[in-house]
Amino acid sequence: MNLPAIRLVEVGPRDGLQNEKAVMPLVAKVAFVDALSAAGLKEIEAGAFVSPAAVPQMADSAEVFESIVRHEGVVYSALVPNEKGLDRALDADADKIAVFTAASETFNRRNINASVAESIERFKPVLERTLKMELPVRGYISTAFYCPFEGKVAPEKVLPVAQKLLDMGVEELSIGDTIGRAVPDDVRRLLELLLKSVPAEKIFLHFHDTYGMAAANALTAWREFSISGFDSSSGGLGGCPYAPGATGNVATEDLIFAFKASGARVPADLAKIQAAAKALEPKLGRGLASHLSKIDLTSVPPSSRP
Ligand code: HMG
Ligand code: MG
Repeated sequence: MNLPAIRLVEVGPRDGLQNEKAVMPLVAKVAFVDALSAAGLKEIEAGAFVSPAAVPQMADSAEVFESIVRHEGVVYSALVPNEKGLDRALDADADKIAVFTAASETFNRRNINASVAESIERFKPVLERTLKMELPVRGYISTAFYCPFEGKVAPEKVLPVAQKLLDMGVEELSIGDTIGRAVPDDVRRLLELLLKSVPAEKIFLHFHDTYGMAAANALTAWREFSISGFDSSSGGLGGCPYAPGATGNVATEDLIFAFKASGARVPADLAKIQAAAKALEPKLGRGLASHLSKIDLTSVPPSSRP
């Protein structure tokens, strides 16, 4: 079977660090993004231009963008909730914008103080401007499988949001399992519906790993549906401050291991990614969540090393 090469979007500097208790110093954030660039990752969500009162950990995103060393061929994107966020992201010279809404009303209200329809209204001027500038935009749809407040979310609730975002001009969708509760059957059900009208290459899946199912979910999406786009966070950092009980994103290194072991082409250096995340540990005040961060690969005999 000719399955597509994997396209990873590294969201550790944004989704990862936004939910850490310890506020990471600017210099550590910059070193993290630089190390991820040097590890061969091609897209890095480097920060968020949201209200600093809502998410204090992202308050210095402008400084992060200003201080990183931009590698050629790497896209440095930014999360924005509204036009004010877009202005800030443009000032910071972000290469790509990510807007975000949800498939469930309660989560969206808690997250960005808007209904799903209102949040899409807010994106209209953002998208009008980015389209004129030919700046690429991704659209996140959170709680596409489960909502922390409303429970299971039907695929039929996700599809109209996806269609609306695509009609408005977003280049790709990132479909979020915000609380990391989905299992492969949930992934199958949603993709069976979405792929009737959305091309596979426009879909990225954004798995949090609360129940340890993220790699299984990603492999299911790739093998059975030829989905090649996945979001992940080095070290398995973070989570969403507005999703109680949810842990971090699937770890980039764990996902790379799972894909490489399954025969996929993944253009990134596993050992360098491991090291980039490890360097944050002293400042995090806790150990990293990823499986691979617990293994010293140099102590593994070469014959069984990944
Ligand atoms: P609001 O209070 O309804 O908005 O918040 P507002 O327009 O009334 O503004 C309130 C204050 O925020 C004002 O300041 C604005 O100027 C300021 P004040 O007059 O009180 O001094 N403000 C801003 N400041 C800086 N940058 C901005 C901005 N916008 C307003 N862009 C708002 C609405 C959306 C702004 C707020 O709720 C917010 O910023 N929320 C952020 C939520 C967030 O970042 N959540 C985490 C990311 S989403 C996620 O993690 C899920 C994802 O990973 C996918 C998945 O896992 O499912 C993407
Ligand atoms: Mg997330």
